[in-house]
Amino acid sequence: MGVLDILQSKTTGLPECYRQMSESEMVSRIEAIKRKMGGQLYLPGHHYQKDEVIQFADDTGDSLKLAQLSAENAQAKYIVFCGVHFMAETADILSSDEQTVVLPDMRAGCSMADMADIHQTEKAWEILQDTLGDTIIPLTYVNSTASIKSFVGKNGGATVTSSNAKAMVEWALTQKERILFLPDQHLGRNTAYDLGVPLDQMAVWDPIANVLESEGPNEDVRVILWKGHCSVHEKFTMENIRQVREDMPGVRVLVHPECTFDVVQASDINGSTKKIIDTIENAPTGSSWAIGTEMNLVNRLIQTHPDKHIVSLNPNMCPCLTMNRIDLPHLLWALESIADGEVINQINVDKETANFAKIALERMLERSI
Ligand code: 13P
Ligand code: SF4
Repeated sequence: MGVLDILQSKTTGLPECYRQMSESEMVSRIEAIKRKMGGQLYLPGHHYQKDEVIQFADDTGDSLKLAQLSAENAQAKYIVFCGVHFMAETADILSSDEQTVVLPDMRAGCSMADMADIHQTEKAWEILQDTLGDTIIPLTYVNSTASIKSFVGKNGGATVTSSNAKAMVEWALTQKERILFLPDQHLGRNTAYDLGVPLDQMAVWDPIANVLESEGPNEDVRVILWKGHCSVHEKFTMENIRQVREDMPGVRVLVHPECTFDVVQASDINGSTKKIIDTIENAPTGSSWAIGTEMNLVNRLIQTHPDKHIVSLNPNMCPCLTMNRIDLPHLLWALESIADGEVINQINVDKETANFAKIALERMLERSI
């Protein structure tokens, strides 16, 4: 489901009473509902969520961990997902029919996921099959709609997250001559390059012009990258790295692999949000770090590690606006609606889409620890 579908869906806005409520009132009401509902309620929270929300999470994690936990949690009747739309869809696909998944604000989408729609993907697949034959396996980053995951599952492929992209691309290249990697060109390029695929064996699929942008002959292409990106992570630049190395001698640059190829190459370490957190937790006291990822996480790391000198790689960075849509008023609204027996903002992936999307997710989960 893309942003347009969400806006056209029957989503009611936040009632006025929640806008007027004090923070302490909202906190105590959320605590009371959590106490009352106990194990019936499960709140997974992505590392990019605001502190005001993450304080209530039963578990926090990167996309992979949250997908694994959603698949494992059989007892919660309600999963109130504190993250973005594609993550809640994944939880719905992996949970049972008896479980209800709720996203506190339906506007919490992901601009990257919206960069590949199913019609564009089917068109691309048709053209690529005509040009290159049955030589391609599709892989999609979990940051994609359920329809894209379903398409990938139907065509023999799998999902990937930033934690397991390397293992999944390696696996995919043993299945077919080429991969089509949706929708993040940067994660695809960074991962394939790490595995030894040279840049001249990668091409970019432009879904607007319907053309394969390739330097050399099409037959030499092993990795086809969908022309999508994260507008948050693209804001980290080579100039940011040059400046921080000048300002903070000895600084280590740690970035998410959604950053551009040049930035990842010029960094010291790259990895998922979990890898970023683990790296900082294990870093020596007094060490200096410039982190290239979403600001809620960077600010949390600054607060929880006062013994280390941590800055955002881009000093003028904004948070991910869609992740930030989940706030105290929306969380309370979602929880009170459940407690009152009138569930709002339920995520419901239709059966057929969910069946094939689940196959793509399971191919990933069985290859991930
Ligand atoms: P992780 O899988 O590393 O948590 O990243 C999710 C995401 O949306 C990054 O922008
Ligand atoms: Fe999507 Fe980028 Fe936000 Fe992650 S940071 S949820 S990829 S827009």
